[in-house]
Amino acid sequence: MIVIQAKDYDEMSLKAYEAMKKVLTEKPDAVLGLATGSTPVGLYKLMIEDYKRGLVSYKRMTSINLDEYVGLPVTHPESYRSFMNRNLFDHIDIDIANTHVPDGLAEDLEKSAAAYTAFAAAHPIDVQILGIGANGHIGFNEPGTPFDSHTHVVELKEGTRRDNARFFDNDINKVPTHAVTLGLKDIMNAKFIILLASGSGKADAVKKMIKGTVDESCPASVLQTHPNVLVVADEAAAYYLN
Ligand code: GLP
Repeated sequence: MIVIQAKDYDEMSLKAYEAMKKVLTEKPDAVLGLATGSTPVGLYKLMIEDYKRGLVSYKRMTSINLDEYVGLPVTHPESYRSFMNRNLFDHIDIDIANTHVPDGLAEDLEKSAAAYTAFAAAHPIDVQILGIGANGHIGFNEPGTPFDSHTHVVELKEGTRRDNARFFDNDINKVPTHAVTLGLKDIMNAKFIILLASGSGKADAVKKMIKGTVDESCPASVLQTHPNVLVVADEAAAYYLN
């Protein structure tokens, strides 16, 4: 695991993009593992800027997103599908048919989750972008999720729903109670993982992820066992590392 400390959010985004850009330029048909949340938005802006400058094309690339809320219409502005369209896909030349987000509205969620894992297994992720939850979750793999998990339906912890209430008029009751997420085993299949962390709210989780025991109480700690992980944390998120 390589850890880069950045001074602030912008530098974090830039360092992460520099590492990602190598894959984007070397592999025109790369499979990108993408994440939602406020943390990767700066990185997505840099991807868009370089695309607009003609430096990268996403025409032949495929994307696989980590997670989606259960029961939220895709047209809802806070569905992760809407988020991805708004913050990235609408601004680059990726074929929308090649962008994949778990289906939180499937009639048979288990079956759809199994198909998502099968798709991910058939399209190994070249670079996986991750954020981290304040409780150490990655994707929506909450503490206690088995390390050998595949795509599954998860009941969100109250703290996670509280953290995400800011996107739902600060009303926790509007935050969906369940989500579908790529499992930890699926995430660990990625060839290269870049985890971004920003802000003091992530400092404790970052410390446990990097220095704590590898243990299901901190899902992100599993990354210690992956051969190719880059963590980019800004000063506030890296606070307990020094
Ligand atoms: C959600 C997402 C995670 C994300 C986390 C942190 O729970 N499912 O993938 O990493 O939020 O979000 P933020 O980047 O907004 O702090």
